[in-house]
Amino acid sequence: MSLITLHIYLLALALFLVSATAIPRPPRDLQWSFDLYPGTSCNGTADPQAAFGSTKCRANLRSVASAYQLHHVAEGCRIEFFDNTMCDRADLAAVAKSSPGAPMCRPAGPVHRVGSYQVTCD
Ligand SMILES: *[C@@H]1O[C@H](CO)[C@@H](O)[C@H](O)[C@H]1NC(C)=O
Repeated sequence: MSLITLHIYLLALALFLVSATAIPRPPRDLQWSFDLYPGTSCNGTADPQAAFGSTKCRANLRSVASAYQLHHVAEGCRIEFFDNTMCDRADLAAVAKSSPGAPMCRPAGPVHRVGSYQVTCD
């Protein structure tokens, strides 16, 4: 290997390393957002909830919710709504997943009460 070839090789390697670290990979879509409502037809004051990825149990809601309206749920994420304030699956009220189309108001299951929720993303 001549010295010129070696220099070109090292330059190419350096450029590759710089570009590989400088260009960030697009983050995987793990975003989710929805509004909780005290009224079963999504009336009353909205309580917006939004973040990225899985959550622990969230029970610090503004009030007990009776309906929800999804805005965006990433593929592979699901939201579980509970009729208690500790995400106890014995009182699972509703499960929401990514769904195309316009956001719809959904009553929170037959019990119509949500005191906590938890998001799980694959
Ligand atoms: C929502 O609308 C229903 C029916 O009009 C009403 O009975 C209920 O009090 C409303 N709830 C809130 C929180 O505004």
